[in-house]
Amino acid sequence: MKNIVIIGGSKGIGNAILLQQLETNLVYNISRNAPEITHPNLTHFSINVLEEALPEIENVDTLIYCPGSINLKPISSLSIDDFKNDFEINVIGAVRAIQKYLPVLRKGTDPSIVLFSTVAAKLGMPFHASIATAKAGVEGLVKSLGAELASVIRINAIAPTITETTLAAGILRNDRMKENMVERHPMKGYLKPEEVAAMANFLISENAKSISGQVFEMDYGIVTFKI
Ligand SMILES: NC(=O)c1ccc[n+]([C@@H]2O[C@H](COP(=O)([O-])OP(=O)(O)OC[C@H]3O[C@@H](n4cnc5c(N)ncnc54)[C@H](OP(=O)(O)O)[C@@H]3O)[C@@H](O)[C@H]2O)c1
Repeated sequence: MKNIVIIGGSKGIGNAILLQQLETNLVYNISRNAPEITHPNLTHFSINVLEEALPEIENVDTLIYCPGSINLKPISSLSIDDFKNDFEINVIGAVRAIQKYLPVLRKGTDPSIVLFSTVAAKLGMPFHASIATAKAGVEGLVKSLGAELASVIRINAIAPTITETTLAAGILRNDRMKENMVERHPMKGYLKPEEVAAMANFLISENAKSISGQVFEMDYGIVTFKI
């Protein structure tokens, strides 16, 4: 059984990972709200990762950091605080978690870390200046730490396109917006959290032991294809 720390497993993609991992592994969830499910393999800590100390956890094999933001505004409307806040939750929170659990991860079994970027770090889209900047930071962190931790800990990121979670609820708030979103993607669709969770589960598995320092686009073709 692996010891898996999920920061942000109360809902969204993190919750889908949590649900897929619970039967076979011990899961430690850290988020402000508790996940709906209770399970003998689940320990929950109610913590704001930006404001409170992270809990001591004796054994950690895997760290998955899920908190993020979607703050879409024209550059003229984005405040400096918007940029700072997006950087805090997407990058600094991840750095705090990595620094906290690095000593125990080093002693873990096939230890690995998964972070989240976005397709907007590669594909220029209007109104994404703040989130694209922050997620570019996440991708830089993955590259740099991939090298620094190479012989011991693997670290990768997933860069999803729009995913049906509460974070994206404003962009998918009615049928017309959902249909438009499907049409915008060359492969005609957008993500369900379970699809992204399946990629995270692969990246933390032994099957991915050759893979580190990489960013995986899950894009329904929006970054990859022009057709
Ligand atoms: N959804 C998308 O369309 C999409 C697209 C591209 C990239 N992404 C990225 O994918 C990742 C996951 O997104 P998601 O849609 O699953 O997000 P979500 O539904 O908002 O879930 C985020 C999770 O993080 C926790 N969290 C947020 N702020 C926190 C804080 N300060 N302290 C502790 N926990 C905190 C939330 O729990 P509490 O609220 O209980 O604290 C929740 O469990 C993010 O990094 C996001 O940027 C998402």
